[in-house]
Order: sequence, then structure tokens, then C-alpha cells
Amino acid sequence: MLDLFADEAPWQEPLAEGAVILRRFACADAQGLIAQIMQLAGQSPFRQMVTPGGYTMSVAMTNCGEVGWTTDSHGYLYSPIDPLTSQPWPAMPTLFRELSDAASKAAGYPDFAPDACLINRYAPGAKLSLHQDKDELNLQQPIVSVSLGVPAVFQFGGLKRNDPLKRVMLEHGDVVVWGGASRLFYHGILPLKPAQHALTNEYRYNITFRHTR
Ligand code: SIN
Ligand code: FE2
Repeated sequence: MLDLFADEAPWQEPLAEGAVILRRFACADAQGLIAQIMQLAGQSPFRQMVTPGGYTMSVAMTNCGEVGWTTDSHGYLYSPIDPLTSQPWPAMPTLFRELSDAASKAAGYPDFAPDACLINRYAPGAKLSLHQDKDELNLQQPIVSVSLGVPAVFQFGGLKRNDPLKRVMLEHGDVVVWGGASRLFYHGILPLKPAQHALTNEYRYNITFRHTR
């Protein structure tokens, strides 16, 4: 499909206190980011993690950076070693770090220095239930989340699970940054609707940058 908005400059949409959507912010880097994801996945493959409760997540995940988010029979943790390969996670590519720097600055968090990067892959039907990102020790730092490929509905609520939810469509190149008052707000992704994207086929990829320590 011809993308009439391909040359459009990024724009910002406030989401909540401390949270903003940087629309199309990653479009210019998207092809490079996707190529890097494929290379990283060659070293630390995408896998569907099993929660401590024994539930296999529908989203497939991998990581890069000094530590990666993973599960074991006790809970969720950041580990320097990929449990699948028994090797360190691949290093964070320069392009990833540059994008994270630019996005966090644009959103008003100039000191963000992520040590972890979780990469999610959504196939049609895959979802991420409402949750808080709270496994990081340093909650002063924001989360920077980059969407690539097939669009998905993002839910963003409040500090309590049953707070009202905003629903926004996240499209290719959109970056969401949340920190400050909304750092622990509940969020999730509704089941991915089947669609095709020129760069990712049936998939949606999401990269989240985190500072864990
Ligand atoms: C996440 O909550 O870690 C990822 C959200 C997303 O896929 O947009
Ligand atoms: Fe999250």
C-alpha cells in the first residue's frame, strides 16, 4: 500500500502525566531496527516464556543489553545470561541506543541510560495482559517503547488495575515514553488483528528500553 504519510514529520500526543506518544518518531530508522532485530534473534532466538503460574505467553520475546527480562519458576527477573543459550544477551546495537536517547530527550527525560532492552514479537492473536513494569529497581527512569510493523491497540490505565483505560492505536514507528507520575501505570496490548506490513509481514515488533538498576 502506498503510504501517504511516509514523509510526515513526527508529532507528539500527550497520553498522561509524564507520558507521551511520539508519533512516527522511529519511522526513519525502522528498516535498520528490523534488520538488527533479525540479527539479534539469530543469537538469542525469540521464545514464548512461561510465567511462574505455568502459563505460556502468547508474545514471543528476546532481549539485548547488559541484562534481559526473563521468567523462571519463581517469578520475573533481569538476568545477564539468556537461559535458552546460556550465553550473555547480545549487546545493545548503537542504532537502538541512539533512538532511545533521542526519544527520551524528546519526551523530557534527558538522563535516560537503558541497560536492558526487551524485544516482543506479536503474531496474529498475540496479546499482553494488563500489567505494571515494576521489576526495575530504578523507578526514576522512564520506559521507552518502540512499535514496528502491524498496528496494535495499546491500553494505558492508572496505578490501580481497575482504573479507567485509554485505548490508543500504536502504528509503525510510534514511540511511547512513560515515566514520572505514570511510570507504574497499568498497560497492555489487545490481541493483534491479522494484517500485513511491508517490513514485518504478519508481525508486530515492540522494543522497550529499561533502566533496571
Ligand atoms: C510492554 O508492555 O512491555 C510492551 C508493550 C507493547 O508491546 O507495546
Ligand atoms: Fe510493560
